[in-house]
Amino acid sequence: MTTVLHIDDLHKWYGSQHVLNGFHLRVEPGEVVGLLGPNGCGKSTVLNIVGKLVSYDHGQVRLMGKPLMELGYRARGMVGVCSQHCALYPDLLPAENLHFFARVYGLSDKQRTQRVAELMHSFELDNYAHTRVGKLSGGWQQRLHLAVALIHRPQLLLLDEPTAAVDLQARMDLWRLIEGLRDSGTTILLTSHHLAEAQRLCSRVAMMRCGQVVAEGSVPQLLARIPGQAVAMVQSTDSAALTQRALSLGWTVRQHADQIRLLLPHDLSLREIVDALDGTQVSAVRVQPVTLEDAYLELVGHTPITASSQTEHTITPP
Ligand SMILES: Nc1ncnc2c1ncn2[C@@H]1O[C@H](COP(=O)(O)OP(=O)(O)OP(=O)(O)O)[C@@H](O)[C@H]1O
Ligand SMILES: [Mg+2]
Repeated sequence: MTTVLHIDDLHKWYGSQHVLNGFHLRVEPGEVVGLLGPNGCGKSTVLNIVGKLVSYDHGQVRLMGKPLMELGYRARGMVGVCSQHCALYPDLLPAENLHFFARVYGLSDKQRTQRVAELMHSFELDNYAHTRVGKLSGGWQQRLHLAVALIHRPQLLLLDEPTAAVDLQARMDLWRLIEGLRDSGTTILLTSHHLAEAQRLCSRVAMMRCGQVVAEGSVPQLLARIPGQAVAMVQSTDSAALTQRALSLGWTVRQHADQIRLLLPHDLSLREIVDALDGTQVSAVRVQPVTLEDAYLELVGHTPITASSQTEHTITPP
């Protein structure tokens, strides 16, 4: 099957700022790929380039095997874009928005009527058929935004932080919706700062820093790169002594802001951890299996602490 998206050695400058610096990525049919990374690392720029909203300076971008440059504006028919900034018309009704975008993408009258009815129904927008979009909650606007992005049945759906601005309930509804799309075979490239969201939705994740991919793989593959099976989040009034003890036990120590995270080589009970740290002024301990958040901290944003460096006591994220 043809690779849906193949990006190789992509470079983008904004003025003198080298925003994408040799970025690469492949998205295969039916995959949900998550692009993660700190603010300003270039996630939206990648999506905007693939969605033909901005140009790039160097590299290869292929959509369904064809160079993006050669496809020109035909590429817009192949992708559906749900950008960070909502592009809906607030004074129109949900179906009017869908009809508008269906016309933009050149659907015939018959196709348009059918597709709008189908999306209104499957996204449960029928309930709000008579509500102007500006009056919808953020969650329902985002639902409509997704429906608009799918109006022309694109081969690739681009979602830029699809749940960033919505409450918990709406976020969970959107997750179910995106899972439904995933399960019906929609190919999706999404960005997120929400690591639990990426862990839940994505079949593969690419982690970025400064315009490059620094780690990629399935969630289990990324979890396997963490030097530990479980993480203990510990508060202590004497972090130096705690660190010293943990290192002497052969545990890996990470400090992010004021939180000390101990990566444990195997699952230990709370009792075993507390006993092992006895005498190190521990005021709170929480233990859980490692998650994508630990992989992210490990692969994108941590400064390793070793026995020789820990005497400095100050460990700051990059
Ligand atoms: N139109 C533009 N003109 C100039 N600089 C831009 C433009 N768009 C983005 N940038 C810069 O490019 C860099 C990457 O921006 P981008 O929006 O791709 O980051 P991001 O990873 O999506 O960040 P966030 O997580 O905050 O959404 C940032 O430093 C940003 O300020
Ligand atoms: Mg962004």
